[in-house]
Amino acid sequence: MTTMSPRALSQTLPPRHFLDLSEIDAATLRRIVDLAARYRNGTAPEALRRPLSGQTLAMIFEKPSTRTRVSFQVGMNQLGGEVVVLSHQDTQLGRGETIPDAARVLSRYVDIMMIRTFEPTTLRELASHASVPVINGLTDETHPCQVMADIATFEQHRGNIEGKVVTWAGDGNNVAQSWIEAAPKFGFEMRLACPEGLDPNPAIVAAARRDGGRIVLGRDPRELVDGADCVVTDTWLSMHDTDTDRSGLLAPYQVNRDLMALAKPSALFMHCLPAHRNEEVTDEVMDGPQSVVWDEAENRLHAQKAIMVWCLGKMS
Ligand code: CP
Ligand code: NVA
Repeated sequence: MTTMSPRALSQTLPPRHFLDLSEIDAATLRRIVDLAARYRNGTAPEALRRPLSGQTLAMIFEKPSTRTRVSFQVGMNQLGGEVVVLSHQDTQLGRGETIPDAARVLSRYVDIMMIRTFEPTTLRELASHASVPVINGLTDETHPCQVMADIATFEQHRGNIEGKVVTWAGDGNNVAQSWIEAAPKFGFEMRLACPEGLDPNPAIVAAARRDGGRIVLGRDPRELVDGADCVVTDTWLSMHDTDTDRSGLLAPYQVNRDLMALAKPSALFMHCLPAHRNEEVTDEVMDGPQSVVWDEAENRLHAQKAIMVWCLGKMS
């Protein structure tokens, strides 16, 4: 009689990928954020403290990273597992091995993968040919791990985000688009003030609205920040952008003391980092009492531990 190894057995079930917030049900996302809080508070159940012992995460980076790389590595180690880091140019992917072939090969060695890439189609292709879970560690289009950490951060300081107002000021980029996808899942209102030409993808906005999300788009950050519980921004130029200077377009969207003064007095300031100080946000706000940017960075660790535990079927 032949017996199947745990990895072979797990490969008979479809893998649980973490690709975009739009395609994961609200109850699951809620449970992941709640588990992240328990990791942060040191109250995770005993069975979920080191449940990934003997398992390995492969991380593929086609773009630079500090937070994503370190928080996944430390998180996997805390859960009892190990990590292999692959940078695109150091692997055969950089010499033309296809993503489907790499997906098949890596699935024979590791139990879970994370990829940071350019086109969302690369992420999808990896996931569709992998027999282990794949996590989106940022594409040109979305950054779901970041927004899970951001929601955990909001709730760490202000309680349940349901019914609250989050205002984005600046480029309607990958992080903004994951915030849009999160809005219907967690029940908050998402407002985005973006200049013409830098609006979020209308298909992502339409899908979130169909899902019941309250998504408000406008041009004037002063108007949209009025009454906000949280103000969020990001760099004026993302890693995939080919423009070299958008300061003319985006200077009116800078988050500074005057803009924060229009939000609720209890409003938080968030930024996924890295920040370009005194461009999209002033030092005064970044280092001020409303800023929770360092907690956001810390919560990447807790949120991603919960995401990996869910992907690997350890959380019911
Ligand atoms: N926020 C974020 O994803 O940071 P890194 O680019 O450093 O990973
Ligand atoms: N929008 C930024 C986020 C970096 C974490 C970028 O894609 O470069």
